[in-house]
Amino acid sequence: MKKSVYAVSAFALCVAGAVHAEPQAEVLHYWTSGGEAKSVAVLQEEFAANGGTWTDMPVAGGGGDAAGTALRARVLSGNAPTAAQIKGPAIQEWYEEGVLADISAVAEENGWADVLPASIASHMQCEGTWCAAPVNVHRVDWIWANADVLAANDITMPTTWEEFNAAAEKLQAAGIIPLAHGGQAWQDATVFEAVALGLLGPDGFRKAFVELDQDALTSDEMIAVFDQMRVLRGYVDPNFPGRDWNLATAMVMNGEAAFQVMGDWAKGEFLAAGKTPGEDFLCASTPGEGFLYNVDSFAMFDVDGDDKKAGQALLAELIVGTKFQEVFNLNKGSIPARVDVALDAFDSCAVLSAEDMNASSEGGSLLPSYAHGMALRGAQSGAITDVVTSHFNSDMSSEEAVQQLASAVLNSL
Ligand code: BGC
Repeated sequence: MKKSVYAVSAFALCVAGAVHAEPQAEVLHYWTSGGEAKSVAVLQEEFAANGGTWTDMPVAGGGGDAAGTALRARVLSGNAPTAAQIKGPAIQEWYEEGVLADISAVAEENGWADVLPASIASHMQCEGTWCAAPVNVHRVDWIWANADVLAANDITMPTTWEEFNAAAEKLQAAGIIPLAHGGQAWQDATVFEAVALGLLGPDGFRKAFVELDQDALTSDEMIAVFDQMRVLRGYVDPNFPGRDWNLATAMVMNGEAAFQVMGDWAKGEFLAAGKTPGEDFLCASTPGEGFLYNVDSFAMFDVDGDDKKAGQALLAELIVGTKFQEVFNLNKGSIPARVDVALDAFDSCAVLSAEDMNASSEGGSLLPSYAHGMALRGAQSGAITDVVTSHFNSDMSSEEAVQQLASAVLNSL
């Protein structure tokens, strides 16, 4: 077993009232693909190396919808897990139900406020207390490509959606699937928000998907976003319904498809398969300005038992620790949430992500992902995704889609 890197602070254990307890944690998460499983194993190993006993509760299903349903069933039946992977405004929604544990003692003891950017810290706080621990920053607005396929077809990474469409036409004529995509609502939403950021611009995106402004939701620019989604639908192979996102990534890896629009958890898949960025696969932000962030985090539930409370304190401390933030994120495709972790060991896509995040933060174009539960509460994001996916999977016009979008949002408020 790996030598312990962390010692749980005596303070944290005292506060948890669990000085002699052996840390236990049942952890509900949805990291089940190749790259995800390698990443969560980093946490399991560190937890065990520090004397913890981990009970795994993985719920397969990209984007975490199935995990969310499983979590709700557990909590409603009075059997909450010790810790669960939840993020964005869902953290505050759970807090309001009175079921989260307060992890402020660990946060304060470890100086989280000094090492986390304010924008990330605010997602982890509930009425002045700390109620979740962040593991990373994923960027959503990425295009991934097979380097050989692009070179063989004399195509460079597109910098506008027109260029993307021109490249896709060329690839299609050459018998290559232009866009690897899995037909699941959250994947449709992921592509949609990347297109929306590009075509609406950061301010337009904020108005539509953070402020839910009715004019922005029905604007001509929003019609153009749905038009582009219709074009993209034509670049997807017929077998896409129900396909998992990591299988779509595999299509890019093996050259069956050229591109995938997906967050940088896709990079975790390429890396887990031994692929090298810049050589085997290419990364570029999707066309347009801005950065859509998606911060994974764990919240602790209010459970009985000193062993579980000790497990929560240990988990929280490890998650925001520097070593974990480095090793986990090297596997996961994301970048550390902490500002003081050097990126020397990280690849060029991660370095680009960090640079773009800082520039976007300064320029006011760092935006929460709606598709990955960072911008809106569940009822609103769900209402938007329902329209996005029903447009993508039918012949609904873009004009009809924006009308449905606006009324679905109104009805969800
Ligand atoms: C999560 C990632 C996860 C991806 C696919 C995203 O919402 O933030 O951690 O890898 O979904 O499941």
